Amino acid sequence: MHVQFKVFRQNPDSSPHFQTYELEVEPGNTILDCLNRIKWEHDGTLAFRKNCRNTICGSCSMRINGRSALACKENVGQEVARLQAIAHSSADQGSVHDAAMPTITIAPMGNMPVIKDLVVDMQSFWDNLQAVEPYVSSEARHIPEREFLQTPEERDRLNQTGNCILCGACYSECNARETNPNFVGPHALAKAYRMVADSRDDRTPARLDQYNSTSGVWGCTRCYFCDAVCPMEVAPLQQISNIKQEILAQDQVEPTRAIRHRRTMVNMVEQGGWIDERQFGLRVVGNSFRDLKGLASLVPLGLRMLATGKFPGRFEASEGTAEVRSLIRSVHALESKGTESVDVHSTFAKPMTPTDTSGSTEMPVPPAASSPSVPPQEVPPEPEPAFGWTPYAERINGRFAMIGFVALLILELITHQDFFTWLGLR
Ligand code: FES
Repeated sequence: MHVQFKVFRQNPDSSPHFQTYELEVEPGNTILDCLNRIKWEHDGTLAFRKNCRNTICGSCSMRINGRSALACKENVGQEVARLQAIAHSSADQGSVHDAAMPTITIAPMGNMPVIKDLVVDMQSFWDNLQAVEPYVSSEARHIPEREFLQTPEERDRLNQTGNCILCGACYSECNARETNPNFVGPHALAKAYRMVADSRDDRTPARLDQYNSTSGVWGCTRCYFCDAVCPMEVAPLQQISNIKQEILAQDQVEPTRAIRHRRTMVNMVEQGGWIDERQFGLRVVGNSFRDLKGLASLVPLGLRMLATGKFPGRFEASEGTAEVRSLIRSVHALESKGTESVDVHSTFAKPMTPTDTSGSTEMPVPPAASSPSVPPQEVPPEPEPAFGWTPYAERINGRFAMIGFVALLILELITHQDFFTWLGLR
């Protein structure tokens, strides 16, 4: 078959552009085969990385038709079929595609600067991997004479994350990396869970503490792209979720803002079916009146909301709250059983495979609460929630709490009296 390849070209001293090459290829030829032929037969200046040609080394990761993949894994036939499927679905929506000659577009990975053509500078990728300390630590333990023994079950826990070949595909597609340069990335956190899950490692509490931040697991935006493109089915998002579960299971863990965010959201949805905007910021950012600095940071937003009439006066539970509550409690019940299928994220998230031709970004539908293993629980409707604040704060609604807080703050500043302590709010 005759195929056109649009290849990204860039030199350090010139503007990037796409260069087109045409090849007569077999459907079974890999993209790497085609790049080799382009380099050997058409243009020796084309730069790209490769090594094993067999999905082992991870060197040949690049963007093929818009998504990161291994050039030695994807073949021309699959790519053309994928393009045709996308073209058909787009044609259904009214756009016209010229399918006279299939065109495969090849570009460098994202989230990393280009050195030349398809070669990117992966320094940040390696630095972020290093940051999670991806080595089994046995510092504080007695070192056995021969080797550390593991049961087959303990070893099995490492299989999925152990498959990572550090190709960078997940890092390339990571939305969180695009907006948060401190986020270490899905590859690093998948490796981090590899360490947390390893029975030989003796630093689990310190590791969980280290990953418990927006540079770590709470920086993930759960876009699922990492799971979708991973050529080795490591499912980095699932590993990030596993670390979160470990962090949340620790009773002694300091409830950071990220943890409060998660807990408050689940609690509110469980109680009222959706989020009570009046209370959410106060409980998460203000830490239920314990974080006065955080609370003060909400004041400008609260005042703007009040001024524009966007501060909800009262909260009404959503329709179907009982079903939502039943679903959440069913998941909690599964989690407490400790079975493998309990991970909410892995249960709800059905990762797209790299060859998924649908191009759909729709979220998979969560399983019904009436799955055969966990019958739905009959839950009586609950009254509007009592929030976990001080008793005083529970009696007032969010709008007056915010106004009152500002007034008290001003009063304290003027009189130098400790009103917050006097009222039991500090
Ligand atoms: Fe080694 Fe593709 S060349 S993974």
